[in-house]
Amino acid sequence: MARLTLVTALALTGSSSALQIPLQLPFDTPWTSHRHVVTADEAGKLPLVDSETLQSKISSHALESRSKVLYDIARKAEEEYGHPTRVIGSADAHVFGGPGHDGTISYITSVLAELGSYYDVSSQVFPAVTGHVSESRLVIGDEVPRSASPMGLTPPTRDNEPVYGDLILVGNEGCEPSDFPSEAEGNIVLIKRGTCPFGTKSENSGKAGALAAVVYNTDPEVVHGTLGTPSPHHVATFGIGGEEGEKYAKKLREGESLDAIAYMDAEVRIITTTNILAQTSGGDPDNCVMLGAHSDSVAEGPGINDDGSGSLSILEVAVQLASFRVNNCVRFAWWSAEEEGLLGSDYYVSVLSEEENRKIRLFMDYDMMASPNYAYQIYNATNEENPTGSAELKELYVDWYESQGLNYTFIPFDGRSDYDAFIRNGIPGGGIATGAEGVKTKDEEELFGGKAGDWYDPCYHQLCDDLSNVDLEAWEVNTKLIAHSVATYAVSFEGFPKRTDELVKRNAYTGRTKYHGPKLVV
Ligand SMILES: *[C@@H]1O[C@H](CO)[C@@H](O)[C@H](O)[C@H]1NC(C)=O
Ligand SMILES: *[C@@H]1O[C@H](CO)[C@@H](O)[C@H](O)[C@H]1NC(C)=O
Ligand SMILES: [Zn+2]
Repeated sequence: MARLTLVTALALTGSSSALQIPLQLPFDTPWTSHRHVVTADEAGKLPLVDSETLQSKISSHALESRSKVLYDIARKAEEEYGHPTRVIGSADAHVFGGPGHDGTISYITSVLAELGSYYDVSSQVFPAVTGHVSESRLVIGDEVPRSASPMGLTPPTRDNEPVYGDLILVGNEGCEPSDFPSEAEGNIVLIKRGTCPFGTKSENSGKAGALAAVVYNTDPEVVHGTLGTPSPHHVATFGIGGEEGEKYAKKLREGESLDAIAYMDAEVRIITTTNILAQTSGGDPDNCVMLGAHSDSVAEGPGINDDGSGSLSILEVAVQLASFRVNNCVRFAWWSAEEEGLLGSDYYVSVLSEEENRKIRLFMDYDMMASPNYAYQIYNATNEENPTGSAELKELYVDWYESQGLNYTFIPFDGRSDYDAFIRNGIPGGGIATGAEGVKTKDEEELFGGKAGDWYDPCYHQLCDDLSNVDLEAWEVNTKLIAHSVATYAVSFEGFPKRTDELVKRNAYTGRTKYHGPKLVV
C-alpha cells in the first residue's frame, strides 16, 4: 500500500520503451521443490479449473512457509541497510536492485519456472529515479519553520553543505522566469504554491541563480510533493505550510528583510527495476483476467504483510492453478516500486498498446491480505465512477464473503494501490485489502474482532512488519477469495460487461495524484 506522502520519492524517467528481457534461469535456490513440469500440451488435457477445488488447495501452512522464505530474503539486505528490507534500489549504484528486492524477484521467478511451460513468464525492466534525503534543515530568520519538509527528488544543497542567503519573495507563483527578481541570485527564494508543477518552480529558481527554494502552501497544512523528473537546474527545494509561508511572505512584502539557511543532504539517482508477468499459455489470449500484487517493500522494514502477503497469495494461487486448464487467459503481475509511487503498474499500463489494453477484461489488486488487526475490506468501485465491470467485480467479493458467513466493509477506491493506472485507462478494476494505518472502529471490532482504536496494521511501513505481523486466518480466507476470483473469470466472462470503447473512463478520483511518484503535484 503506497503511503500518502513521499520523502523518498521516485519518478519514471522521461522516454523509455518496454524492455522485455528473457528470464535468467535456472536459479540455484534452496527452496526449489521437485514438481512435475507441465508442458503446454499437457495443460490442454488438465481438468477445467473450478472455484471450489482451487480454493480447497489453499492453506495457511503453505503461505506461512513462503513467508519464512521471504523473510530470509529480506535479511539479505541487512548488511547494506542495517535491517531486513525488500526495498528497491541499493546503496551501490552498480547493483541491479536492493538485495531484498532482487531476492524477491528471483524467488517468484524460480517458483514459476518450476511450473514448466504452464506460464509464459517475462520480466519488464523499467528505469526509475530514486531520491533519498539523509538530512535536511531550514532556518528562516531565527526560526526553524515547523512545517518545513524536503520535496521528493530534491537535489542536495551545494556540496551537501548548508547555504546562506537572504530570503527573496518570488512574484506570482514562480512559473515564469520573469517572476524572479534579480536578487534571487545567490539567495534563497520563497515561492507560492500553484499554477505549475513544483519541478518547474525549482527549475526556474535554479535558472535565476538561487541556492535553494521554499514553496509555501495555499492551505495551512504542510505541502508534500515531488519535483518529478530531475533537471540539471533543480535546486534543493523545501515545502512549508501555508500559515508559516504566508507569514514570511507578508514580512517580505512589507519590506522587512529575512535571512535564511538551507541544508539538504540528498541524492537523486537513476536505477532500473523489474515487473514480473506470468500469463497462462492456455486460455483465450484475447480475454484475460489480470491480477497483481507488489513485490517491493518500503526501506524501513521487510514488508511481510505489505505486500509480501499479496505477492505470496497470488504466487500460491498461480502454483495451484497450474494443475488445471483455463478457458480464458490468466495474467499475474508482481509490480515493482509500488511504494515509490505506483511506478511499476503505471509503467506497465503506459506502454500497453490500445490492442493489448483491450485484451485485459479486468484487473484485480491484492495489496495487504493479512493485517494483524484486519478488516475484510472491499474497494468501493462503481460503474458510474469507474470503468464498467468494476461494480460486477465488487459484487463477486461481496457474494463470496456473504457465502462464507463473513462480514466485510467498503473502503475508498481512491488510487492508493496498483489498480489506479488500470482504471484510469479504461480497464475495470477492484480488489480487497485488510487495512494499513487506518484505525479500527468500535463497529469494526464487532464485525471482525481485533482491537478498536489500533491500526489495522500496527507495523505498517515499519521494521516490525515481519513474520509475526500476519494474521494467518485472514490471509488464508483472502487467498481463497483470490483463488475464487481467478477461477471464476478463468472459466467464463459470461455476465461480465464487455470492454467499452472508452479507454479513458471518467473517474471520480482522476484529479488526484497523491499516491503517484511520477505525477507532478501542482
Ligand atoms: C460507496 O460508493 C457509493 C457510490 O459512490 C457511495 O454512495 C457509498 O457511500 C460508498 N460507500 C462507502 C462506504 O464509501
Ligand atoms: C459479523 O458481525 C456481527 C455484528 O454485526 C457479529 O455478531 C458476528 O459475529 C460477525 N460475524 C463474524 C463471522 O465475525
Ligand atoms: Zn505500503
